Amino acid sequence: MAKLLTGLKPTGEFTLGNYIGAIVPLVNMQKDYEEVYLFVADLHALTVYQDPQELRERIRKFIAMYIACGVDKEKTLIYLQSENPYIPAISWLLECTTPFGEASRMIQFKEKSKQNANFSVGLFTYPVLMAADILYCDTNFVPVGIDQKQHVELARDIAEHFNHKYGETFVLPEPYIAKEGTKIKDLKDPTKKMSKSEENPQGVITMFDSREVVTKKIMRATTDSEMNVHFDEEKKPGISNLLNIASVLSGQKIEAIEKKFVGKNYGEFKKYVADIIATRLEEIQRKYEVLLNGNELDMILDKGIQKSIALAKAKYENMKEKMGIVR
Ligand code: TYM
Repeated sequence: MAKLLTGLKPTGEFTLGNYIGAIVPLVNMQKDYEEVYLFVADLHALTVYQDPQELRERIRKFIAMYIACGVDKEKTLIYLQSENPYIPAISWLLECTTPFGEASRMIQFKEKSKQNANFSVGLFTYPVLMAADILYCDTNFVPVGIDQKQHVELARDIAEHFNHKYGETFVLPEPYIAKEGTKIKDLKDPTKKMSKSEENPQGVITMFDSREVVTKKIMRATTDSEMNVHFDEEKKPGISNLLNIASVLSGQKIEAIEKKFVGKNYGEFKKYVADIIATRLEEIQRKYEVLLNGNELDMILDKGIQKSIALAKAKYENMKEKMGIVR
């Protein structure tokens, strides 16, 4: 009975990178899995200061966006991480079995801690909380973008350590990285990841951007001085990024799109890509508005959290028992 799980951190806007890296694979795979879990990683958002009012609004927007993106709301357990008190409790038990050296190897921690000298302890222990998110419900696969692969692999190692020390307790999870769109790049600097906290908003497409904004951003995207729509991530990162996006969203192979633009200029190609993105976003935004203003979201969250708590409680009790913390 295979299970699928993923989560998004509500820091900054929901980006096209998040959608393509995590949500599109989940939506494509959901029918083939017995159980699907999708949550808002709101506890993770706190590793870096968030304005409380903005965070509150964003959490709701993320939930509405999940469903608008095509996540099957009947089948999927949709919930807020912070509403399950057993997840941080499991995380503590896992912290005590995670070797410091292994946690210290996390690239994201190394990069983010360099950006702010006063980083929080949570920024360091974050991947262990992520392991708790993944391991509590015996997930098999975790669809993520390539930047989260190392964290999912750490979760697997943490599970192995625990199983080895205390006996079989956790299923070993695997990251699921879709071939195309594993890393959508910034439009202005296509050597960097498209990121929600990016200082240059012109390089980032959010799920809330209008057709006009999308078109402007794509038309101004950095490319190269050739006139050749061809996929080559090293030599042509800008064009390759646009090809990747167009391919994932239209379901066509990259070569098929390249063929359409033989001998044509980048302006025509960019218009084509902008139209694909804007058409998809408009479709999602229409559903999103209805969901955000309706009262369905709370019902969905109430249902999701109940089952999530029941599963996490059972796992927590099992871990405690195995570790010897029982009366
Ligand atoms: P987060 O919120 O940074 O990103 C959410 C998901 O979007 C993917 N992603 C991208 N994929 C392709 N191209 C991009 N430019 C791009 N930017 C982001 C990320 O890889 C991720 O899959 N720690 C996680 C949240 C989390 C989680 C979990 C994920 C917490 N617990 C358990 C899976 C399972 C994070 O910060 O993702």
